[in-house]
Amino acid sequence: MSEGKPVTILCLASYYKGTAFLLKAKELGCRVILVAKETLSDEAWPDESIDERFFMPDLTRRPDIIYAVSYLARGRQIDRIVPLDDYDVETAASLREHLRLAGIGETRVRHFRDKLAMRMQASRAGIAVPAFVPIINYDRIREFMDRVPPPWVLKPRSEAGAMGIKKIHDSEQLWRRLDQLGDEQSFFLLEQYIPGDVCHVDGIVSEKEVVFAVAHRYGAPPMNVAHEGGVFVTRTLPPKSDEAQEMFALNKRLMKALGMVRGANHTEFIRGQDGTLYFLETAARVGGANIDRAVEAATGINLWEEWARIEVAHARGERYELPPARTDYAGLLVCLAQQEWPDLAQFDDPEVVWRLRKKQHAGVIVVSEDPERIKRLLDNYTTRFVHNFLAVAPPLDKPPA
Ligand SMILES: Nc1ncnc2c1ncn2[C@@H]1O[C@H](COP(=O)(O)OP(=O)(O)O)[C@@H](O)[C@H]1O
Ligand SMILES: [Mg+2]
Repeated sequence: MSEGKPVTILCLASYYKGTAFLLKAKELGCRVILVAKETLSDEAWPDESIDERFFMPDLTRRPDIIYAVSYLARGRQIDRIVPLDDYDVETAASLREHLRLAGIGETRVRHFRDKLAMRMQASRAGIAVPAFVPIINYDRIREFMDRVPPPWVLKPRSEAGAMGIKKIHDSEQLWRRLDQLGDEQSFFLLEQYIPGDVCHVDGIVSEKEVVFAVAHRYGAPPMNVAHEGGVFVTRTLPPKSDEAQEMFALNKRLMKALGMVRGANHTEFIRGQDGTLYFLETAARVGGANIDRAVEAATGINLWEEWARIEVAHARGERYELPPARTDYAGLLVCLAQQEWPDLAQFDDPEVVWRLRKKQHAGVIVVSEDPERIKRLLDNYTTRFVHNFLAVAPPLDKPPA
């Protein structure tokens, strides 16, 4: 397992996640360096898989992170830089450019972090997107509001988890909000609100080719769950269904248009009431909110591990091959819980393959060969989650420090 060229991978983590990546990279014989946010020093990092670890107050602060990693590079030959969290994706690109390493650089990374850039690039490639306007030029904003009927959403160009998104019903409300935002406003974008189901494709790209993709549909749209509270639900769609096939085809076109090179990817769409599948957003990383576990339950593919295998194969000049994947159906439920440790043992159907262990949270994954069975279980469990556990917290505008 550990033969081949010695490869040193430096992983950036502003959030505690991606331990499966670290484990796999070590198993493949890499030297693994972790640079993580200071507040994460007590998390359960897999010690045996990490050769060296460093903690910093804030990984996104320039030039501190450039100085720090360049300092490490004086005595270490760093081959790859991998962002474990979405907020690290841009930092990783800057560091790659600075150290002249392979992978997505600063220009292209915009397409995966900046919602305005991804909208423009996708729409140039002929992919349907909600009508949108940058918060840059007021004449263009006025023209947009005259042309596109409300409601609209005003959203930050580079946040995640529906943070900072506001639904806007008229022009007065928009101008008031822009006043409040002041100099922050140009970091936002305004777009048409498209009611509809939100779906996602989670996949793997190797040398610019999509080599794996699986389609899911959320229960309530993530914005509704974040703003109104509720149970976050997603379930696997039949891979051969027209719906999934359309999503796979769009995902392929998007990855080409946006310039994805290698690694894991999470892409979201809204199915509009006109039947059109609108591109919502994409990210050059493993989907959050335990979606990786649902993907693994349904297919046996661990996105983190495959990403590690792809980076290592490329660094060694070897060919990457995807392991055989299953096509089962997973259902994932997560909510904020009133109880510190909600009783999840009551979900004891044989389809339950995972229970979340996180304070004040409830979460379960079910898996079956039968999509109808998953639907029934999710309906039943959602009702019980709401009844037994559900707590509602006010939505966040910004990530917690
Ligand atoms: N144009 C839109 N029309 C309808 N709902 C939207 C629109 N944009 C965002 N949303 C809602 O907000 C959620 C979060 O938006 P998204 O662009 O995916 O940002 P985030 O990075 O925060 O997930 C979506 O899942 C969806 O529920
Ligand atoms: Mg989203």
